[in-house]
Amino acid sequence: MEKFKQGVVLITGTTSGVGLNTLKPLLSSGWKVVAINRSNKRAIDAASMFLGKDDLNKINFIEIDLSDLNQVRKGAQEISIKFKGALKILICNAAVYKPRLRRPDRSVQGFENSMAVNHFGHFLLINLLINDLVNSDKEINLNGKNILFTPRVTILGTVTANYLELGGKIPIPAPADLGDLAGFEKGFLSPISMANGKKFKPGKAYKDSKLCNMITVQELAKRYSSEKIICNSLYPGCVANSKLFRNTPWIFRLLFPLFQKYITKGYVTEKLAGQRVASVATDSDLFQSGVHWSWGNRQKLVGNVFSQKLSKRIIDPELSKKTWDLSMKLVGLK
Ligand SMILES: NC(=O)c1ccc[n+]([C@@H]2O[C@H](COP(=O)([O-])OP(=O)(O)OC[C@H]3O[C@@H](n4cnc5c(N)ncnc54)[C@H](OP(=O)(O)O)[C@@H]3O)[C@@H](O)[C@H]2O)c1
Repeated sequence: MEKFKQGVVLITGTTSGVGLNTLKPLLSSGWKVVAINRSNKRAIDAASMFLGKDDLNKINFIEIDLSDLNQVRKGAQEISIKFKGALKILICNAAVYKPRLRRPDRSVQGFENSMAVNHFGHFLLINLLINDLVNSDKEINLNGKNILFTPRVTILGTVTANYLELGGKIPIPAPADLGDLAGFEKGFLSPISMANGKKFKPGKAYKDSKLCNMITVQELAKRYSSEKIICNSLYPGCVANSKLFRNTPWIFRLLFPLFQKYITKGYVTEKLAGQRVASVATDSDLFQSGVHWSWGNRQKLVGNVFSQKLSKRIIDPELSKKTWDLSMKLVGLK
């Protein structure tokens, strides 16, 4: 029997938290992993705390700082050359959240940095690799078995970007809302720092960037048939003690996990969140495209995954097309 190439899954942001905890389940089910980080050294150090030597050897570490679109272009080229045919899955996981900034951090290209990392870096990476994914080999080998596998793009979304959920309505500093996208339309450079062109609100900048992530999935699902590629997003639960919250006040870091564990019951461990990401990216049961998968806001012991309804701000066809078109322009693809 002919043995096909081992399937390759790319994941961004594996130095900590959800991304780090997604490695093990991916490797166990036979995937070769490409881990994208801004420091290979830190990524390897972190992975070696979790994985044995054999598993570690199955990971290709590639350095890309997602805040720099030139690095994304260079990295995508390298990935395309090295893994053509075998690259089947892209998991967009990396993110930065800096809710205490008074003034926006700026990316190399001059964009507000959380939008640059969370949305533009991933948006460009997806668009540069989508043809490789779509045209990848139909059959791959996982743990010695040849299987047919439809390519996938999986993006980490969040509850605070979905206005239909309670967490998406929290008014502090403001719910996610791209407004009329005036900020994107005007080029998104200083002094502009928000997609809607209004006053800088760092917490909202993060939520807006995750809203863009979720819109990207909806647009991809419209643009590519599900026979060619499956595009989905997920809310893994509240991973309240991950390093994502490293820039919040210490009192928040102390109380937030307790609040999520005992009051809202929304808390999940990094390990469970990692397993959920791996399952949304690879499980044959989760084959529908354009779905935002969730286990709900209150975690139950035996909770099933379901397709979460999304707000108009995510699925409105005109707004999502405009977000896509302006993003294409801002990352230099149009
Ligand atoms: N935590 C939650 O409750 C929660 C809930 C819903 C969704 N999510 C989503 O889950 C994902 C992972 O979050 P997490 O909680 O695991 O956070 P985390 O532990 O802070 O992990 C974020 C990862 O992104 C990487 N990253 C940051 N800036 C980067 C850049 N410029 N280039 C490349 N990589 C960069 C970080 O690497 P460095 O070490 O280099 O900074 C790190 O590996 C995010 O998309 C987040 O929005 C989290």
